[in-house]
Amino acid sequence: KKDILDMASLSVEEISLILDTADRMKEISERPVKKVPTLRGRTIVLFFYEASTRTRTSFDIAAKRLSADSISISASTSSMVKGETLIDTARNIEAMNADVIVMRHSSSGAPHMLAKRLKASVINAGDGTHAHPSQALLDMMTVRENKGTLRDLRIAIIGDISHSRVARSDIAGFTKMGADVVLAGPPTMIPRGIETLGVSVVHNIDNAIHGADVIMMLRIQKERQKGFLFSTEREYARVFGLSKERLRKHAKDDVLIMHPGPVNRGVEISPDVADGPYSVILDQVTNGVAVRMALLYLVSGGVRNASSD
Ligand code: CP
Repeated sequence: KKDILDMASLSVEEISLILDTADRMKEISERPVKKVPTLRGRTIVLFFYEASTRTRTSFDIAAKRLSADSISISASTSSMVKGETLIDTARNIEAMNADVIVMRHSSSGAPHMLAKRLKASVINAGDGTHAHPSQALLDMMTVRENKGTLRDLRIAIIGDISHSRVARSDIAGFTKMGADVVLAGPPTMIPRGIETLGVSVVHNIDNAIHGADVIMMLRIQKERQKGFLFSTEREYARVFGLSKERLRKHAKDDVLIMHPGPVNRGVEISPDVADGPYSVILDQVTNGVAVRMALLYLVSGGVRNASSD
């Protein structure tokens, strides 16, 4: 595949190939010398128009572990501040023979627009409220690693679904791989008609947690909210936050607690749950490097080149 734009455009076979490749990449990341020459001579440009800690850093580390050259550009230090358009900026980068452009942008569809016009591969690192496919893939890798399968698991995704590109990509990915997804959150944070994506919706967090194999808590995206429904963050935490007490009362003994980050501690999740024994939040981050190594490898013709690696 030339581009990785969203989960909807990946088949079950392609998702399985990415996850299997990521498992192999994780083994490389666990060696004392965590670097292989696989992508030597390739140039990867990280083009981030929104803030990022995990995604940008892990794509950069992934590129370096595969011996590619990577360079980072942000909106505030590029000539976009002088009025250059996104497509002109991207064409100029391509003119420097970049092989892969990894892009995060506040506008939904921006990476798709670039992918249509550029010969370079484009990987979507998050576009507006639309998609964040590498996050969904690392989430699926983390669940598969812990549960052995994705099929027939109950995945509860809780919080601000409306503004969450992670939720949209997780829904597309997990349902495609045979899991049951249940969403919970305040009515104002759940888009109307989302059941057509093959998920169920409840408005009580305890009902969502009950019987769940995985609980994925989402951040309240204050930067994208017009008006916050709850009078205080403490009130939100009381009604929709994941606390130790709530877990003890309603969750399965082998539940996995996940969060894509960044975490609002004490709002959607209490610190003792985020750091507690069921949490795999930092495992998600570790697996993010492996998944992004797999994506860079595969869009660079990895399967074709596998025999010569
Ligand atoms: N999960 C995630 O996308 O984190 P960053 O915004 O820090 O990249």
